[in-house]
Amino acid sequence: MNSNLNDYILSHIDPEPEHLNRLYRDTNLHLLYPHMCSGHLQGRVLRMITSMIAPRHVLELGTYSGYSALCMAEALADDACSVDTIEIDDEAENFIRNHLRASSVGNRVNLIIGDATEVVPTLPRDYQLVFIDANKRQYVQYYQLVFPHVVKGGFIIVDNTLWDSKVSEQENHDALTDGVRAFNDYVAADTRVSRVILPLRDGLTIIQKLTD
Ligand SMILES: C[S@@+](CC[C@H](N)C(=O)[O-])C[C@H]1O[C@@H](n2cnc3c(N)ncnc32)[C@H](O)[C@@H]1O
Repeated sequence: MNSNLNDYILSHIDPEPEHLNRLYRDTNLHLLYPHMCSGHLQGRVLRMITSMIAPRHVLELGTYSGYSALCMAEALADDACSVDTIEIDDEAENFIRNHLRASSVGNRVNLIIGDATEVVPTLPRDYQLVFIDANKRQYVQYYQLVFPHVVKGGFIIVDNTLWDSKVSEQENHDALTDGVRAFNDYVAADTRVSRVILPLRDGLTIIQKLTD
């Protein structure tokens, strides 16, 4: 999207809350690969979708700086609801926890440091909403692992499913593009779900689980 249109959209949607603006700036100052942070537009989209689904419990794979987890936490009905978020990078832990403490909804976010492929099978609860946003090579595996933890009628949202438009190129794929393409093919053939791909930012797939 060109930057004029992006600015136009940002000036006509809900403003970015102050604490998230601070987190976004700190992410850009202190963390590697700050482009991974959801940011204003996608953050407001996640907040809106979470509000529409009204989940009791949300699961996120790939916390990074905590931006998207806080956007989803903002839309939860009350403090009995929660976002469990899994991050493999233990060096990010202090940064994330400091920002969770600084947020009025940070108490709703339960940060789990570990590899999602090991943590997800141990989770004791089911979720009405799962947000997959970790290693693109492992998307099919994440999907298979989280699926039993999603209630019937629940939703799985998956980020970066257009992968800078590389998914539609016929040749010269790197491993990440192959991972995302394999995931898109897997979900397209899954008769247990309904699915749609939104061309938002880097592609956002919304999947509803219809049956086990
Ligand atoms: C794109 S970033 C997440 C961005 C964040 N969800 C947001 O929207 O602001 C991906 C994150 O997934 C983490 N990650 C990669 N593989 C993982 C794994 N197997 N388990 C948990 N986290 C993982 C990376 O360390 C990175 O912080």
